[in-house]
Amino acid sequence: MAAGGGAPRGSCFVLGATGETGRALLRELLARRLFARVTAIGRRKVDLGAESAAALEEVVVDFERLDEHAAAFQGYDVGFCCLGTTRAKAGAAGFIRVDRDYVAQAAELARAGGCKHFVLQSSQGANEHSSFLYLRVKGEVENLVQAVGFDRCTILRPAVLLCARQESRPAEWVAQQFFGLVARVFPTAYSVPVKTVARAMVACVLKPGKGKVEVLENKAIHQLGKEEPQQGAE
Ligand SMILES: NC(=O)c1ccc[n+]([C@@H]2O[C@H](COP(=O)([O-])OP(=O)(O)OC[C@H]3O[C@@H](n4cnc5c(N)ncnc54)[C@H](OP(=O)(O)O)[C@@H]3O)[C@@H](O)[C@H]2O)c1
Repeated sequence: MAAGGGAPRGSCFVLGATGETGRALLRELLARRLFARVTAIGRRKVDLGAESAAALEEVVVDFERLDEHAAAFQGYDVGFCCLGTTRAKAGAAGFIRVDRDYVAQAAELARAGGCKHFVLQSSQGANEHSSFLYLRVKGEVENLVQAVGFDRCTILRPAVLLCARQESRPAEWVAQQFFGLVARVFPTAYSVPVKTVARAMVACVLKPGKGKVEVLENKAIHQLGKEEPQQGAE
């Protein structure tokens, strides 16, 4: 990949590119032309309008048959994952299937396909021992992805995501309004705009890693997401 304004090099894929963070991430990747090849891998195509038309490759896969789509994960340097659903939308079993099993399977395929650096969007409070399903599953998927054995694995743990969500989620909307106000006093504690998360995901691949696995909590995401890219890439 290109750092500091050089020609784009290398390749990356994005899982969850039709979602709020995923779209922000794709926009960031395409606008900055850091990678020669950017692919959205998802269950449907992304609608980013004209801005994405030329630069983006799209691969549609059936996540229930991911093992039949190994070719889709071949030959990427970096994999970004913003995949996820909610318990309200998919039920408890469906949530586990998407947020843990799909992510872990995709990570395995990516590693087998040569991916060196996997960047996972997890959640603040992720903990495999939590009594809350959401936080437990996030902790479990973090462990599974780490165990895949990438050269580098970066895990981001954002707090409440601030965005103009396309899908109607009333409870989340109320939380966003509340934490949007709180952010005026405590800007990095309880929430983070999706654009900041997206910028942090990109920034972390431009920086040399601090060890094989790096976990970025909400405050670190804010710091990284507002920084300009540094020289020196992987
Ligand atoms: N909301 C928050 O405040 C918050 C806070 C911290 C962390 N997180 C986590 O951050 C991640 C990204 O959140 P987000 O709000 O940006 O995501 P989002 O807008 O809900 O988008 C999720 C992505 O996952 C895909 N997806 C969902 N169910 C799927 C399925 N059954 N099969 C295949 N793909 C599926 C969606 O595809 P379609 O467009 O086709 O549905 C979409 O691309 C999630 O893991 C979430 O748990 C969220």
